[in-house]
Amino acid sequence: MPRFVKLATLDELPEGAAREVEHEGRVYALFNVGGEISAIDGICPHQGGPLADGPVVGTTVTCPWHGWQFDIRTGKTPLGAKIKQEVFEVKIEGQDVLVAVP
Ligand code: FES
Repeated sequence: MPRFVKLATLDELPEGAAREVEHEGRVYALFNVGGEISAIDGICPHQGGPLADGPVVGTTVTCPWHGWQFDIRTGKTPLGAKIKQEVFEVKIEGQDVLVAVP
């Protein structure tokens, strides 16, 4: 049963920004695209690159290390259906960005 945990505030994640947050040993990448917040597993499944540091175009983030790409809303990648980045539900309460952590 996921718990919603505050991982950021809206001030820390303005439109167009990304942010890496660690919580209980896991790394999350949070993105604000067009005012909508997304949260995905922040570690690239290829070799562990920091996805929050990658450029975002539309809803696609590109890993800064070797260029694997992921949709920040679905976790899907053009590399094929076998690879999918975990996506976490997000709720906004006031200024708080709450993420459903496993
Ligand atoms: S570590 Fe992300 S593409 Fe290699």
